[in-house]
Amino acid sequence: AVDLRGRSFLKELDFTQEEFGFLLRLSAELKAARHAGAERQRLRGRNLALIFEKTSTRTRCAFEVAARDQGAHVTCLDPAGAQLGHKESVGDTARVLGRMFDGIEYRGSRQAHAEELAALSGVPVWNGLTDEWHPTQTLADMLTMREHSDRPLREVSFAYLGDARNNMGHSLLVTGALLGMDVRLVAPRALWPDPELAAGPAEKLAAGTGARITVTDDLGKGVRGVDFLYTDVWVSMGEPAEMWQERIKLLLPYQVNDAVVRATGNPSVRFMHCLPAFHNRETEVGRDLYDKTGLDALEVTESVFESPRSIVFEQAGNRLHTIKAVMVATLGD
Ligand code: CP
Ligand code: NVA
Repeated sequence: AVDLRGRSFLKELDFTQEEFGFLLRLSAELKAARHAGAERQRLRGRNLALIFEKTSTRTRCAFEVAARDQGAHVTCLDPAGAQLGHKESVGDTARVLGRMFDGIEYRGSRQAHAEELAALSGVPVWNGLTDEWHPTQTLADMLTMREHSDRPLREVSFAYLGDARNNMGHSLLVTGALLGMDVRLVAPRALWPDPELAAGPAEKLAAGTGARITVTDDLGKGVRGVDFLYTDVWVSMGEPAEMWQERIKLLLPYQVNDAVVRATGNPSVRFMHCLPAFHNRETEVGRDLYDKTGLDALEVTESVFESPRSIVFEQAGNRLHTIKAVMVATLGD
């Protein structure tokens, strides 16, 4: 039997197929229990620290609501109010927080900081996004894909289009490999995933699970027949705004639009995005980019984002249940 008590959730590579599958099943159970009004509190009296060095809507809210549902108390630390980083080292902070809290969520740039917090705090640490990995997102993505597939995930395919060298590209690559899926990363060569990861751990996992990994710049080949199209922003948090120009040039051919949907040849293909997304003028950043570039869409067109094939808000909602599952599995009674 799988027992994850005391474990941290830092990156997908730390987990076996069985363990990841266990977290997915627990997520589905917790979701059903919440909807039935039959949730049992397994984190009663626990104290959790939530560190956000980068902004967040979904991840922060999911941790807060999940903790409350399960009877735990949260303390949020953000850069404005905390010493972490500018005045106190990660190692010192870890040893302080470990004496007060039962679990710690960390969102920041450096994966090494998440790992150091876990090593020195002595309590489970949950990665709420770093520049390298976003494991609570892929857990929610896989729950969502499962809910929208009539086949097991090992018979499901998805194509991730866009910046395949960012946290989402890497996390989706490894998660797909771990679960034995048909994984396509469709991107210009300059934005292919870290070759050491793709050829190393990801291929090794795939050999064990039967996953098929395709990294290609050939859009038609990459998306043909897939069950899910997935994309992310072209410039991630922490990357300089000047990068947009170059990224738009590289990535415009990989925009998810009606032509790409048709190229899948799958009339029931679904669209996914981890969000936030720049699909219209209703954000400051989006408006500014559209004004400067004359474009009317970036990583996804409004016609796809707002279509019935789009399951982005179900994905977002599933962050709650999957984050809850991670906390319950690693910290629950
Ligand atoms: N997808 C995601 O992590 O969203 P937030 O940045 O709002 O947490
Ligand atoms: N790649 C994006 C993901 C946001 C959830 C970023 O890091 O900003």
